[in-house]
Amino acid sequence: MASQRQNDSSAGYQPLFKSFATDAIHVGSEPEQWNSRAVVPPISLSTTFKQHGPGKHAGFDYSRCGNPTRSCLERAVAALDGAQYCLALSSGTAATLTITHLLKTGDGILCMNDVYGGTNEYFSKIAAEFGLDVSFADLTKLELLKAALKANTKMLWIETPTNPTLKVVDIKGCADIVHEHNKDIIVVVDNTFMSPYFQRPLALGADICMYSATKYMNGHSDVLMGLISLNRDDIYERLKFLQSAIGTVPSPFDCYMCHRGLKTLHLRMKQHFKNAMAAAQFLEADPRVDRVIFPGLPSHPQHELTKRQCTGCPGMISFYIKGKLEHASTFLSSLKLFTLADSLGGVESLAEHPVSMTHVSVPENEKKELGISDTLIRLSVGLEDEENIIADLDQALAAAVTHLTLVDLVKMYLL
Ligand SMILES: Cc1ncc(COP(=O)(O)O)c(C=O)c1O
Repeated sequence: MASQRQNDSSAGYQPLFKSFATDAIHVGSEPEQWNSRAVVPPISLSTTFKQHGPGKHAGFDYSRCGNPTRSCLERAVAALDGAQYCLALSSGTAATLTITHLLKTGDGILCMNDVYGGTNEYFSKIAAEFGLDVSFADLTKLELLKAALKANTKMLWIETPTNPTLKVVDIKGCADIVHEHNKDIIVVVDNTFMSPYFQRPLALGADICMYSATKYMNGHSDVLMGLISLNRDDIYERLKFLQSAIGTVPSPFDCYMCHRGLKTLHLRMKQHFKNAMAAAQFLEADPRVDRVIFPGLPSHPQHELTKRQCTGCPGMISFYIKGKLEHASTFLSSLKLFTLADSLGGVESLAEHPVSMTHVSVPENEKKELGISDTLIRLSVGLEDEENIIADLDQALAAAVTHLTLVDLVKMYLL
């Protein structure tokens, strides 16, 4: 159901999810759950809990298996994802590892070919060595998905939009094909870039929705966290067991911080969208830029799919700067407001160079195939004032052009 639209950039997208802000602020934070009636859930640091009698506890026994602060966060995230269950993990990577432990030796996992570098690395260099049959395919093409399904395929791993080339995958299209092939294949969507404010994978047919909550969910670049939302009882029971048995749990303090971050998710995502749209339009019109990739621009190949599947777009933009490696390097080192750093989804604007930073571990031939070249730059547009964001991009582009001109001049002089 739709709620009132607040800015023009959201026109044509799916209606916003009903009561999102109210749920973000109240679910998991009910004062009545505490004797003190605390309005803000307390940070429960105790690792162990007193039992009434042997094996008889009041909901919690040992903090790896369950913790009151974690439980508040998990209830809030489940509400935002329209899910029955949520589990919080110690990082996005810990969520990936825990989910992969649902599989057994010989099982096949089919993964989108353009994913976060660490996910690619985990599947190809670790899971494969433990006997999983790992393969990658371009899931933006449903015919390639059909061709890549095997008799042993047990899990499909989608990331959308992809990192860093922001391809958009049709979640419902993929889930329908895969479940028709075998209803037991577990469809996982890494929803880190979109957050539940812009995309709810479970409603589109996914079995598991996961996050690096280190990014938009916490939103302040000060917590490492993973989250998993789902509806299926059987998978939840197994994942809950794995979370505790493997020990991939977050600290109560991080749970408190992430829960606090969630309460402004709706406001942050709206503004990320607005600022990113302005930055993308500026870059697209600039002659110093070769190509801009932003799913919110009509020039994006899957812009229509984005509007059908999402309620808007986050602050992630990738673009190819004109020139070569030194051009990109000068641009990145000339930024003053944007910080040159890994990660994304915080209130501050960040910029990075995928080929030498987040995706350095991806094999050279794959980087080439995916378009992760020397001139590709990824921006995480933050919540600063729009005119300051654009002015910073403008002056860094100017510095890059000057640099190229000087290099060319020196070359000319030496020759
Ligand atoms: C899309 C995506 N998934 C997963 C991860 C891994 O998350 P974490 O760094 O919290 O382990 C990242 C990290 O950058 C990411 O961008």
